[in-house]
Amino acid sequence: MDVVVLVSGRGSNLTAICEAIDAGVCGANVVGVVSDRKKAGALELAHARGIPARIVSLRKSDDRDSWNESLAAEVTALRPDLVVLAGFMRVLGAPLLERFPGRIINVHPALLPSFPGHSGPQDALDGGVRISGCTVHIVDAGVDTGPILAQAAVPVLTDDTADTLHARIQVQEHRLLPRVIHQIAIGAITLDPLTVCTPVVDPTRSLTVPDA
Ligand code: GRF
Repeated sequence: MDVVVLVSGRGSNLTAICEAIDAGVCGANVVGVVSDRKKAGALELAHARGIPARIVSLRKSDDRDSWNESLAAEVTALRPDLVVLAGFMRVLGAPLLERFPGRIINVHPALLPSFPGHSGPQDALDGGVRISGCTVHIVDAGVDTGPILAQAAVPVLTDDTADTLHARIQVQEHRLLPRVIHQIAIGAITLDPLTVCTPVVDPTRSLTVPDA
């Protein structure tokens, strides 16, 4: 299964995906990385691995509509089966969503539907929750609102800062995201926007995707 990974940041999830592929536990192939930021560390990771990388900068686009069109064109040119948002910090517009209906997933650093948006770990601290975690979900036109595929939980400790909580969450992201990609690749998770999404996993477990 060919995957394009969209990034904005340092790319630790991209690394986790690539390492799972290298280890033979994620049946995917990263055919491209697309960033909205020239300085994203993830781009260096892509270069180091020889993965084609593109930059589609919102600031260098005429407006958001043309940025959305350019983004959709770049991703489409890479011909992925699945698009993975791994720290991509922008809301997708119709052009990409329409070209890959139900075939775009995102990893978010909170237990959705709680704490969507850009500051999940800080919002969880502010909310006083004792458990947080990460969510992998199908992307729709909203902000972190699409159907949930899998979640993993972590404790919130009394002395946590947003950074320490986020670091604990990321350990789980790096386990969960490659597993979900693998489950999609082998057909264990069905991404069909027209029907209910049915992960073949045990929803009573905090880590809902089994070890590869
Ligand atoms: C992750 O915590 C992800 O949940 C959020 O952005 C962060 C990206 O981290 N959307 P990285 O760039 O993969 O290290």
